Amino acid sequence: MRLQDKVAIITGGANGIGRETALLFAKHGAKLIIADFDETNGGATVDEIRAQGAEAVFVKVDVSNQDDAVCMVETAVGQYGRVDILINNAGITRDGFLTKTDKAMWDQVIAINLTGVFNCTQAAVPVMMEQGSGVVLNAASVVALYGNIGQTNYAATKAGVVGLTKTWAKEMGPKGVRVNAVAPGFIVTAMTDKVPDKVLGAMAEKTPLRRLGQSADIANAYLFLASDEASFVNGAVLSVDGGLTF
Ligand code: NAI
Repeated sequence: MRLQDKVAIITGGANGIGRETALLFAKHGAKLIIADFDETNGGATVDEIRAQGAEAVFVKVDVSNQDDAVCMVETAVGQYGRVDILINNAGITRDGFLTKTDKAMWDQVIAINLTGVFNCTQAAVPVMMEQGSGVVLNAASVVALYGNIGQTNYAATKAGVVGLTKTWAKEMGPKGVRVNAVAPGFIVTAMTDKVPDKVLGAMAEKTPLRRLGQSADIANAYLFLASDEASFVNGAVLSVDGGLTF
């Protein structure tokens, strides 16, 4: 029970890494806010958490909408009275070479992966600073650190998230709020379903541990960073990628 009675908001908590993290946090005693625009799978995740005997609510949120982000935090405070953990996990890809990335693809990815992180964190940190404690965890990517062919927009957002993480760690640390990021390698989820098997096979081959990641690999990293065991970890970008560089 490493998160007993902690209130955790997970954006993109309806699927993939976010869902796995929500289920793990619930096992460790957290109360969950599943914030996602996928109502069907968001509701299913909440049902599964409740079936484990833990507490969870679903909030329909588009993280790129500032009003939705405010409503998400208001729901958490209304339901549970506080916000201890925010995981900015919602994210999308709209891949293409630079020459084939149109403005709409660029804008969509920036709006969700970067502005979404800004919106949700700006809504949540006043509550955390008032409490004198809180943890913000951001989903970066191995791609933020090394770049990736066909991911101009995505790499820009994830590198931006690294910059936000380090800046907010400095701004909010004195108020008792820690801010860290996780940089996953290639993790088997709906997001990587779109990547051709040949490319995924090559990524596994390039990974010193010779496999792709699982959602549980990332959920475990979030659990550590969210817990008091990481109470002196601030401004870090934790690579969870099997040692992959490219
Ligand atoms: P996923 O596609 O399985 O799940 C993403 C979730 O975000 C979905 O539930 C989706 O409904 C939600 N979402 C998307 N746009 C949203 C919006 N505007 N508002 C609210 N919710 C929204 O993706 P996955 O693989 O679980 O990725 C989670 C995070 O981890 C993302 O930020 C992704 O960029 C990052 N990541 C994933 C990697 C991978 O290999 N799967 C590698 C590196 C980073």
